[in-house]
Amino acid sequence: METPKPPIGLARNSANYGDREFALYLRRSFAKSMGYSQAMLDRPVIGIVDTGSDYNNCHRTVPELIEAVKRGVLAAGGLPFAFPTVSLCEPSLFPTSMHYRNLAAIDTEAMLTAQPMDAAVLIGGCDKTVPAQLMAAASTTMPCVQLVTGPMLATPFQGERLAACTDCRRYWAAYRAGKVSGERIAEIEGRLASTAGTCGVMGTASTMACIAETLGMMPPGHGSIPAVHSERLRAAEEAGRLAMGMLTRPIRPADLITEASVENALRVLLALGGSTNALIHLTAIAGRRGIAIDLRRLNELSDTTPVLVDLKPTGEGYMEDFHAAGGMPALLWELRDLLHLDTIDVTGTRLGDRLETPPAFVDRRYIREREKPVSPVGGLVALFGSLAPRGAIVKRSAATPALFEKEARVMVFDGLEDLASRIDDPALDVTADDMLLLKNAGPLTPAGMPEAGYLPIPTKLARAGVKDMVRISDCRMSGTAFGTIVLHVTPEAAAGGPLALAETGDRIRMSVAERRLDLLVDEATLAARRAGWAPPAKPARGWDRIIADQVLQADQGCDLAVLRPNGE
Ligand code: FES
Repeated sequence: METPKPPIGLARNSANYGDREFALYLRRSFAKSMGYSQAMLDRPVIGIVDTGSDYNNCHRTVPELIEAVKRGVLAAGGLPFAFPTVSLCEPSLFPTSMHYRNLAAIDTEAMLTAQPMDAAVLIGGCDKTVPAQLMAAASTTMPCVQLVTGPMLATPFQGERLAACTDCRRYWAAYRAGKVSGERIAEIEGRLASTAGTCGVMGTASTMACIAETLGMMPPGHGSIPAVHSERLRAAEEAGRLAMGMLTRPIRPADLITEASVENALRVLLALGGSTNALIHLTAIAGRRGIAIDLRRLNELSDTTPVLVDLKPTGEGYMEDFHAAGGMPALLWELRDLLHLDTIDVTGTRLGDRLETPPAFVDRRYIREREKPVSPVGGLVALFGSLAPRGAIVKRSAATPALFEKEARVMVFDGLEDLASRIDDPALDVTADDMLLLKNAGPLTPAGMPEAGYLPIPTKLARAGVKDMVRISDCRMSGTAFGTIVLHVTPEAAAGGPLALAETGDRIRMSVAERRLDLLVDEATLAARRAGWAPPAKPARGWDRIIADQVLQADQGCDLAVLRPNGE
């Protein structure tokens, strides 16, 4: 007897009325109310994740991308159904978009698995959207193609180019130092983000797009196409066609997100001089597949992976330069002897086969040869020590080497309010030789691990010409920022980590060479301080309470415990 074929398209995941035939009858009947013919409703269904929102400037092209994906699906014989999920725009969310990344991940996973579809195209872009979508995909067996909105173009302006958000920070720091006038900063405000798309530098959004491409979740070359190029729409059409292709040749997230592809993604992150945030996101994505990222292994990879990409915030170019220079295919070619070549991508192609042919053109101003790297070692390193038993991250490629080996007195801020109320006080007892430390801003706090690790230089020092200081915190930094910033100190202060015990006037020793970060306070003093410490009160209810009960530390990607493979 012939075994019945598994249901496809609208016949999948029927609603539970206790009568499957009736459930399908009802579903078809309601779908017909939208004007679909029976022939269309018999087709395989490709879900398209719609993250367009009036709050999300980075996703303003999502409607036309959906149209292009639909074109690809229809041309290949499928039925495209777009559906909304949470949309996260970095500057639009209080307290920070990171606080809602896991919400977007749950939403996306639930809708991918609850609604009837055979494969999906995930449209993300702004910093937390692609991580959330990849975390969701990794927790399902749904064949998925990742699509991004793409980076904005830089704006030519009075002899220089501007794009969010490294230039935003550069100009704001100059304004704080009194070097740029109020009129000038207001004029520049309208020039920093003048096209659609995500931030135009190698910030978190672009780093995550490159990581998605390295993991194989998107076709080669698609990560860096500018948002406003027609090529971006053709990429969307191709994503729709590819999703259809995966019906006969299913490639599931588990086939793509493997130990080998995750290690390749770490290599790429380092070679890009990419965002520190990407490390948290990649840890969370890999964690969904039960793959742990060991920060000591990160250090080994960092010592053997050169920075090859010369883009802001660590270098000079913008994302459009990276794309024109050859993009990810050129970078992967340059790194080929360091990569695991048996990984595959959504087209089903083995990386090693793809890298048999050199790229036709590479602009060496932006993607360097191995012999002439931007830096001979990778952009990120993890530090460990009595202040950070489970690690902290410093982006050495965006830091000041003269500050790498340092012992100094520390000025401690107890939280974001304390920081805001005192940092500009002319009487603040701080010198250029001190370190700054911010605590109580980690993932467990109501602050939600914001991008506040780029502590401003105290105004009185900024006006005296101080451009960088060692700044330490349990929060994050924008991928577009720069400075000698030590981030993600784990465990965080709110979890009772040693950071909670640090006080103004203590001494801290940092050694990037030795990968150390130590609080130089004797054990008896620390024990006395620990006896007086109490964990912060939890929010009473809602999403904030779920976070307080469930969120994991940075070395586990700040995922919710219950969303990991075994709900640990
Ligand atoms: Fe969306 Fe920077 S604000 S990518």
